[in-house]
Amino acid sequence: MWGGRFAEGPSAVMREINASIPFDKQLWREDIRASKAHVAMLGAQGIVSKDDAETIRDGLDRIAQEYERDGVPEDWDLEDIHMTVESRLTELIGPVAGRLHTARSRNDQVATDFRLWTRAANLRSIAALRRLRMALVERADEHADAIMPGFTHLQTAQPVTLGHHLMAYHEMFARDETRFAAANERLDECPLGSAALAGTGFPIDREATARALDFTAPTRNSLDAVSDRDFALDYLMAASTTAIHLSRLAEEMIIWASQPFGFAKLPDSLSTGSSIMPQKRNPDAAELVRGHAGRIIGAMNALAITMKGLPLAYSKDMQDDKPPVFEAAGLHDLSLAAMAGMVGETTFVTDRMRAAAQAGHATATDLADWLVREADVPFREAHHIVGEAVKLADVKACSLEELPLSDLRKIDERIDERVFDALSIEASVASRRSYGGTAPDQVRQRIAEAREALSDIAPTASRDT
Ligand code: ARG
Repeated sequence: MWGGRFAEGPSAVMREINASIPFDKQLWREDIRASKAHVAMLGAQGIVSKDDAETIRDGLDRIAQEYERDGVPEDWDLEDIHMTVESRLTELIGPVAGRLHTARSRNDQVATDFRLWTRAANLRSIAALRRLRMALVERADEHADAIMPGFTHLQTAQPVTLGHHLMAYHEMFARDETRFAAANERLDECPLGSAALAGTGFPIDREATARALDFTAPTRNSLDAVSDRDFALDYLMAASTTAIHLSRLAEEMIIWASQPFGFAKLPDSLSTGSSIMPQKRNPDAAELVRGHAGRIIGAMNALAITMKGLPLAYSKDMQDDKPPVFEAAGLHDLSLAAMAGMVGETTFVTDRMRAAAQAGHATATDLADWLVREADVPFREAHHIVGEAVKLADVKACSLEELPLSDLRKIDERIDERVFDALSIEASVASRRSYGGTAPDQVRQRIAEAREALSDIAPTASRDT
């Protein structure tokens, strides 16, 4: 493509280090789509003849059919998807193919293709997050009354409901969805027509190509347009935050499924056995989701570090933008699907959760609150009194609720029989009706709102790339 200036061809190492076709062939649909938009505009503007524009368009359509059927051929000499398409176009329609590259450069071309690809990745994430949110809401509704220990420091703290716990993840994933949506709002400008870096002298119509590719407007600065990869970082950052949330959920599933906890039985469809220990049922999918988070965050780091030292405008370092995004997107899509399946199909062992909540003196705070409310004891003093009661219950190996009233009154005589109404885990959970609290009626209201929000959201825009 640039033979005119060179006496010798590239060395074998140069060919290999230069080639992006092994990974950027993933952009073939976007590349052909953007080329069709470009050539249609060139034809409409009289920059190439109508006939030539049509010949080029038909050639591009044929290439799309070939790639769909046979895949994209990988010739390192052709470096990347842009040259691969153009070279095939030349084979198919002859020298007129050379008119396609009028008024553009691979720099605006790759920026445009990659934006289109990333926009689709954002939309896939939004759709997958919505499925995961739905699954969480369903299971939370089913278990809005199921009591489990709530933890801080992974130590039993206060009883909560499983519904409340699952809805906590729903909140995270709802926020994540907005990150991908915001990323798409920001990327909604079309770089095509920025050419190599400075724009072009040809009378192009950038509004037309922007519209044809479903962007709201063309980018405003050609230097920025060809050297900006914020959109890819936005995607990776949104994916990283989501991956952190997915990983935390996966970690809980792993803990809950371990025998000492026994809170959950993960679905067969997302577990594996052991080749040596017949009793094993390993939470591999959850562990891989936890592991993939590391790689996704790594991908975000990789691109951030690639970009941070680059002067304007395009530098070849930027070719390295795609592998981390492609890798992260594959891992991210799989992780979202795996966790939606896991949430939907896990059997929660609610008896065991309840027993654990019962066993951990989870209502100690309720006893202290009762002393404050009913006996006007200052909270600090109440805290101390309850500490004594917990100590005694431990000695007697029983729950707070099982301590006889006489024992409690020995610790503090202001305690009377009404205290037992506050000490059950049901009463504890039911009492926490502050907005956003764990009381089942609160949780049910949040579930109803979430359902409403999920049904309200318009179905994902059907932009094709
Ligand atoms: N293969 C290149 C990439 O992925 C395309 C842009 C090349 N531009 C250039 N000036 N060499 O970034």
